[in-house]
Parts: sequence; C-alpha cells; structure tokens
Amino acid sequence: MNHLIAPSLLAANFADLKTDLDMLNRSEADWLHLDIMDGMFVPNISFGLPVLQSLKGKVNKPFDVHLMIVQPDRYIADFKAAGADWLNVHYEACPHLHRTLQTIRQQGMKAGVTLNPHTPVSLLEEIITEADLVLLMSVNPGFGGQSFIENTYHKVEQLKELILKKNSQALIQVDGGVDNHTAPGLLKAGADVLVAGSYVFRSTDPIETIAQLKQLKC
Ligand code: DX5
Ligand code: ZN
Repeated sequence: MNHLIAPSLLAANFADLKTDLDMLNRSEADWLHLDIMDGMFVPNISFGLPVLQSLKGKVNKPFDVHLMIVQPDRYIADFKAAGADWLNVHYEACPHLHRTLQTIRQQGMKAGVTLNPHTPVSLLEEIITEADLVLLMSVNPGFGGQSFIENTYHKVEQLKELILKKNSQALIQVDGGVDNHTAPGLLKAGADVLVAGSYVFRSTDPIETIAQLKQLKC
C-alpha cells in the first residue's frame, strides 16, 4: 500500500480557516487529522464537536480524529455524528480498551489505538487484531511543533513485527515532528500514515509540501 498523508488541522490558521481548507481540498492529502484535547488528558485545550460538525461537507477528506481526552467512551457516538471516519483513543485513557474499540467499530467507524512515547508496543499484543490502526506518538501529546523523539523508529519496527506476527490488518500511523528529515526513516521502518502539522501549514507552499511527503519512497 502507498503511504498516506494526514495534515493536522491544529497547525492551521484558525482566523482564516477557509484558505487552509481550500488548500487541503486541492492537495494530495489523504486524510484530515483532527486533534481533540480536553485539558485533562493533555495540558492543552484545542477544539471539539461543533468545529467538526461545521467542517463536515467542507473538506473532501476522511476525518481522522485523535482523541486526547479522558473517558473517550462517553463521546464515541457524538464523534460519529460529527463526521469522524477514524476514531483514535489513547491506550492510557482506556481501562476497557477492548470494549472501547468494539464500540467504535459497532458505530461504523474505524478504530484506532494511540500510544504515548513511553508506552511499549508490546502492550498491544492481545488487542492488535481489534484495531484498524495504531497511532504511535513521536512527541508527547498536547502541542504541535515539538521535536521528534528518535526512539519512534524502533517502535515502528516493533509494531510492524507484531502486526505481521498476529496477522493484523492495522495501519501504522505516526504523529509529531514529522517532516522531510524524519518521514523517510519512518516509512522505511514500516509506517503507513504520516501526520504532519507545522511542517505542512508553516511551509511557504503547503500543497507542494504535501506532494513531496506523498512522493517519498521508502
Ligand atoms: C500533538 C498532536 C499532533 C500535532 C502534530 O499532540 O497530536 O497531531 O498536531 O504537530 P506537528 O506535526 O507540528 O508535530
Ligand atoms: Zn494528533
């Protein structure tokens, strides 16, 4: 499978969102990554359901929703109604992860599980076949524009091994500090989906930046 690019809206210009949405619609971006932060699970607050609702129909890309919130089970149905196609919950926020992933799938979405940088891949051993995607955080969640944690390459390799061993179909997604320096190594290690926030939205030509990320060979 060719790798996918998911620009993260967190780095967009919220005072002129239409310009960024038009750019995304014209770009080769595969998904739109949406970071939901509650000020509890992570030390930052971003945006929530009304913003997603207002974006639906304005962006012609699947919504890849990254929930950085406590008790995500309380909001699964709401995010489905707001237009989420992929719903990612944090491993660290889900005491009953199996049930959570099942509920997401039952609601007609693809289910993703996200690992913080300190959470080992081996903890997914018994759950990997229930996930459509695993998101490896390559920064501590909460903010855009942070530096990439180098250990992530190793975690991608470990995850790829686990997926093959368990015959899982899960995609490997990486989020945080992705740019032209880190992306090639991530793809080589086995990443399927790259999230990029500041690298895309702060570049002088975001459409070209997305195209270049898309064209990378592993
Ligand atoms: C961080 C978010 C990321 C963020 C990535 O908590 O999950 O999606 O937007 O931003 P960059 O690409 O700037 O590191
Ligand atoms: Zn994210």
